[in-house]
Amino acid sequence: MEWIVTKDYKSMSDTAADMIVEEIKKNQHLCIALPTGGTPIGTLENLAAAYNERNLDYSKLRCFNIDEYVSLGKDHEQGYYYFLNNHLYSKTNIDLSKTYVPDVFAKDLEFEAELYEGMIQENGYFNLILLGIGEDGHIGFNEPSIVHEAICHVADLDNSTIDANARFFENKTEVPKQAITLGIGTILKAKKIILIANGKKKSDVIKKLAITNEIDPKFPASFLLTHPDVTIICDKEAVSCKE
Ligand code: F6R
Repeated sequence: MEWIVTKDYKSMSDTAADMIVEEIKKNQHLCIALPTGGTPIGTLENLAAAYNERNLDYSKLRCFNIDEYVSLGKDHEQGYYYFLNNHLYSKTNIDLSKTYVPDVFAKDLEFEAELYEGMIQENGYFNLILLGIGEDGHIGFNEPSIVHEAICHVADLDNSTIDANARFFENKTEVPKQAITLGIGTILKAKKIILIANGKKKSDVIKKLAITNEIDPKFPASFLLTHPDVTIICDKEAVSCKE
C-alpha cells in the first residue's frame, strides 16, 4: 500500500481528484466505482471543477455506485445515486445512461444485487475504485463480520454505521438499515484502489490499517492488504493518534 498524508481535507481532495483525472486522461472509457458520505465531497467536486476548467471529456466514463440504501430511490435526497448526481454527474457531461445503481425497490433484493454484480462483470470490473472507510473499518457496506460475501449483496448496517450516518438525516430512525453493496471480492477485482480518509474521527481506524499486517474479517479494510495497487490518501488529522 502506498500512503500519502496531506496537510488538510482540501489537499486530500485535490490529491485524490488529480490521481483520478490522470486515470481518466489515460482512459476515457474508465469504469469507476464511487463512494458517498462526508469524505468524498471535496474529491467529487474537484472532479467536476476539473471537467469545467481543464476541458476534459467525461462522456464515455462508466460510473457505478459502490452502494445504495435499500428503500431510498434515485431521487431521494439522502439516496446515494442522488448524492453522486448532485456532486458530480449533473455538473459534468457524464452520460447518465452509463451510470449504474442497483434497483433498491426490486422485489428480490438479493437477486438484484447479483444482477448488479453481473453488470459490473459485463463492464470488465473496475479500472478504478475510490473508497471511503467507516470508523469500524468497513469498506462499501462490508461491515466487520467473521464471514464476508465476495460479490454484491444486501448488507445489514451495523448500529455504529447507522449512528455515524444519522448526521445526514433529521433523526436516527430515518437512516435505512440495509444497503446493496459491492462485495469485498468485487472491490478487490478493481485494477486500482484509492482510499481517502480525513479528520480525527478516522484516526483510530487509520492507525489500525497502518499497523495491520494480516487479513482480519472483523476489520474489512484489512482485505486491501491483498491488493497490488492501493493508495491511501489521508489528511494529518486522520493520522494523528489519540493517546
Ligand atoms: C459510502 C460507503 C461507506 C463510506 C464510509 C465513510 O458509499 O461506501 O463505506 O465510505 O461509511 O463515510 P464518511 O465519508 O461519511 O465518513
